[in-house]
Amino acid sequence: MKTTERKISIGNKNVFQSEPFEPASNFFSGFVGRESELRMIIAAWISGDYSLPMSPLLIGEPGVGKNRLIYERAQKTGSQLYIFQGHEDVTAEDLACSVRFSDQSANVMDYMLSPLVTAMYNGGICFIDEIGKIRPRALALLVSVLDERRYIDSTLLGERIHAHPGFRFVAATNTNDINLLPEFILSRMRPQIDIGYPAKSEIDNIIRNQCTGMKKEVDHLIDLFWALWEEHTNTFGNIAPRDAIYLFGLASKLSAYDTAGGDGAYMAAKAYNSYQIPKELSHTGIRPAHLESAFHKLFTDRATKTG
Ligand SMILES: Nc1ncnc2c1ncn2[C@@H]1O[C@H](COP(=O)(O)OP(=O)(O)OP(=O)(O)O)[C@@H](O)[C@H]1O
Ligand SMILES: [Mg+2]
Repeated sequence: MKTTERKISIGNKNVFQSEPFEPASNFFSGFVGRESELRMIIAAWISGDYSLPMSPLLIGEPGVGKNRLIYERAQKTGSQLYIFQGHEDVTAEDLACSVRFSDQSANVMDYMLSPLVTAMYNGGICFIDEIGKIRPRALALLVSVLDERRYIDSTLLGERIHAHPGFRFVAATNTNDINLLPEFILSRMRPQIDIGYPAKSEIDNIIRNQCTGMKKEVDHLIDLFWALWEEHTNTFGNIAPRDAIYLFGLASKLSAYDTAGGDGAYMAAKAYNSYQIPKELSHTGIRPAHLESAFHKLFTDRATKTG
């Protein structure tokens, strides 16, 4: 992956670029499935002299894997990935450029290019997460980026920035927020790709990849998990990968707590890294009681309290 100089010059101004995101592989277990969704994203991004790349919109429930799909895609192509987190207070100019107090005594203010403009400038991928949370007023600046113009006007910089030919755009929204997106954005964001819950067998593989230190026992735990899930939700499936990962993650921490000697080891420890779990104990030694306890904590406790 090529590295970029953070400070560049646009017009006669020195500006700082946003930093690309590089996922830390130790926190991500193997990627499972999603071939047809990936195929659709790749196809949408194909372009040529007479054909512009399209800008897909990923739509799905929380935790189904919208971000992860884009991380996989960016990693495969070696493209730099710039993420813009959408929220209610984003302004049109935040999408292009902002200013901050400078740390250098010679300057009062520094110009900061947004992740979107940094990706346009370098030919990277811009991923706007939670785009449905951004107000239509702010999104108006995106229109010229997404159609044949492929440029953005920054009032603060007083410049028009044209997209590098390698620039690609994708955004994601939770299913509930799709209706908040204005038509002028929805009509330019195609294809719209639904990211559903993975099949049961894919969830099983996500769990197996997470618990690589466990051999046959993991299959019994997976069976136990589905039995608990079915009893709790009356469905067999329909779980987001994040929920499955958190469940086995908490079970593994409960197991590590017991293995380390419980209260004595962890409660008395004061060092800042005293909660460290050794690699060989990570996601191993989970017993059914740990899984049950984690399941009740994550799924049934609150349901009982609120329901
Ligand atoms: N296909 C997959 N294979 C392996 N792990 C996955 C897969 N899909 C998602 N995950 C894992 O599930 C977790 C949640 O995924 P992610 O953050 O991408 O969901 P999301 O749809 O962006 O959620 P949100 O709507 O809350 O932002 C992450 O830890 C991710 O690595
Ligand atoms: Mg996300």
